[in-house]
Amino acid sequence: MHFPWCVKKCPYCDFNSHPIKESTDQKAYLNALLLDWRQQHGTFGRARIAESDTQQVSSIFFGGGTPSLFEPQYLARLLEEVPHTGAEITLEVNPGTAEYFRFEDYKAAGINRLSIGAQSFSNRQLAQLGRVHQRGEIVRAVAKARHAGFSNINLDIMWGLPGQSVEGALDDLQQTIDLEPKHISWYQLTIESKTEFAGRPPILPVDPVLQEIEQAGLALLADAGFQRYEVSAFSRQGHRCRHNLIYWSFGDYLGIGAGAHGKVSREGAIYRTRRPSQPRLYQQDSQITELTLIPDAQRPIEFMMNALRLVDGVPLQTFAERTLLPWQSVREVWKELVSLELVRQDRCATTPLGLRYLDSVLERFLS
Ligand SMILES: C[S@@+](CC[C@H](N)C(=O)[O-])C[C@H]1O[C@@H](n2cnc3c(N)ncnc32)[C@H](O)[C@@H]1O
Ligand code: SF4
Repeated sequence: MHFPWCVKKCPYCDFNSHPIKESTDQKAYLNALLLDWRQQHGTFGRARIAESDTQQVSSIFFGGGTPSLFEPQYLARLLEEVPHTGAEITLEVNPGTAEYFRFEDYKAAGINRLSIGAQSFSNRQLAQLGRVHQRGEIVRAVAKARHAGFSNINLDIMWGLPGQSVEGALDDLQQTIDLEPKHISWYQLTIESKTEFAGRPPILPVDPVLQEIEQAGLALLADAGFQRYEVSAFSRQGHRCRHNLIYWSFGDYLGIGAGAHGKVSREGAIYRTRRPSQPRLYQQDSQITELTLIPDAQRPIEFMMNALRLVDGVPLQTFAERTLLPWQSVREVWKELVSLELVRQDRCATTPLGLRYLDSVLERFLS
């Protein structure tokens, strides 16, 4: 469920987010979300792709934008409507908004996991990234979250920041580890087109520095007992993020909210769904969900682009369950990749070498 507003747009970000205004009507947005949920759940909620799938909602992710600007009572209202017994329910939090509402109220609303956008612990880097918070607010947000009873916390950190040294990146990671989150998302900063950074590119570390940051960072996380289970995701035992695992195993999900994307399977066909990005248009028009068919020929590459990001991949049979195509359609390519020691024979997964050269592995599925 997407909340499309932020205090201020960060110069590197291409998520669907708009600066929030005094006049932003949260109640109207809540009503649009409720309508959207009812419509999409009514249309797609009963579709099942594989026998092993259940119709139950296993994860709800309030993402953004900055959903920690959304009044807790409205999140509670949404959760009254969405069946969520046993679900992982995540809220993304910008530490600069930790003073807006009480974490206790998010807890009472039913949220059981927080994903906090720290990005860096260096005030200089945070300023360069245009963040609305400093280091101290990250530490306070984590403390407040714990005090409110949240134990399942993720911290987002970015690396390869403008002018960053190996020491700077490792110091960020160490400070993240010291806060004892259950999950760390460690993303390399990418310059996305149509962002402010694309227009005035900052000077990023050169390749050898990036490689050193990556190697030393992976070792630091492993030594601290964080298991890497996806290219950028690291967790303590039993704390892999269900929400992300659904994407990466090419599962079905509903995308509710302005600019939200979904993926649904119905009667042998697989579709991507998309809602209008502009909050105003979305609110006027929340009955129309744009559907795009994923053609048969494109399903293998879409599946592999997701599943092979997972360090352990997925069982071989998941391919047929989720793409609705027989394994034979990729068997020859797979055999060749096995012979090059880039993928495993027993699972739909890369070898460590294949994970390093993932782009080259994926290219084989393009034809
Ligand atoms: C929707 S934001 C998280 C919540 C909140 N909006 C915030 O920024 O604190 C999702 C995460 O994606 C990561 N991210 C966004 N743009 C990125 C980029 N250009 N390169 C790498 N990571 C990026 C950031 O770590 C960010 O926390
Ligand atoms: S606060 Fe988060 S979603 Fe908003 S602009 Fe910054 S990175 Fe993007």
